[in-house]
Amino acid sequence: MKGIVLAGGSGTRLHPITQATSKQLLPVYDKPMIYYPLSVLMLAGIREILVISTPSDLPNFRRLLGDGSQWGLDLRYAEQPSPNGLAEAFVIGADFVGDDDVALILGDNIFYGRGFSGLLREQSSGLDGCALFGYAVKDPQRYGVGEVDAEGTLLSIEEKPVSPRSNLAITGLYFYDNEVVDIARSLAPSPRGELEITDVNLTYLRRGRARMTTLSRGFAWLDTGTHDSLLEAAQFVQVLEHRTGVRIACLEEVALRMGFITADECHRLGAKLAKSGYGDYVMAVARDSGAEG
Ligand code: G1P
Repeated sequence: MKGIVLAGGSGTRLHPITQATSKQLLPVYDKPMIYYPLSVLMLAGIREILVISTPSDLPNFRRLLGDGSQWGLDLRYAEQPSPNGLAEAFVIGADFVGDDDVALILGDNIFYGRGFSGLLREQSSGLDGCALFGYAVKDPQRYGVGEVDAEGTLLSIEEKPVSPRSNLAITGLYFYDNEVVDIARSLAPSPRGELEITDVNLTYLRRGRARMTTLSRGFAWLDTGTHDSLLEAAQFVQVLEHRTGVRIACLEEVALRMGFITADECHRLGAKLAKSGYGDYVMAVARDSGAEG
């Protein structure tokens, strides 16, 4: 399975912060926002990842992430010249996806919860059509909303409905089989002029090939779309990391635990960041796994 992180958009709801930089490069406490979705793809076992962003922001993502080999990844980059919708990712990334299945994650979505990597592996390995993840929120009208019956079968999907049929927001993590490329290519722009991810999901639903797993109550799916929610996400990460001593979405640690890099390689990555507590943490994690140093 391949992975795509979509990190485009103009971030207008966060102006003036995002006037000169990409939203997905902003810090969420101790690391850039894009680290969080990247870690999710890595936890799903995905190593070939395409980062899509605007022509002006893409060079900064390259500067931050490089070719990914330091984390045992193969990172590619592609431009989305104008904000034509989330589903355009599959048109832009068609060659990259090739004949594979693909996971799309939005570059501003933060997930945290126990057992998440097991759930990711389960959903990606048993994929048949498309797999969505629902999360109960108090303001579902801000999101795509999924309705499931008592058995968990997906009944309907609506984008930002005025009267939501459920409180289950569809999160910005989607697993698709290879049909998604043709589906995305055949979409017509919505009234707001975008290729909508909800229209992709509706196509799978109509074909009886969409399912949605509901993330349980103990889970955190965090929003970073407004000044307040961005700060709250950072505070959430800070509180958890201070309390437990474990960092969330530390890519060096994830790469090590996934077997993408060795303990010695991990230690060298930490040493390069040694002036920050983050670097100290990476070196300690590597030492615990047997690195010399
Ligand atoms: C997009 C999708 C929506 C989904 C949300 C998750 O909304 O259109 O279905 O629930 O991402 O973050 P947007 O953030 O573009 O308004």
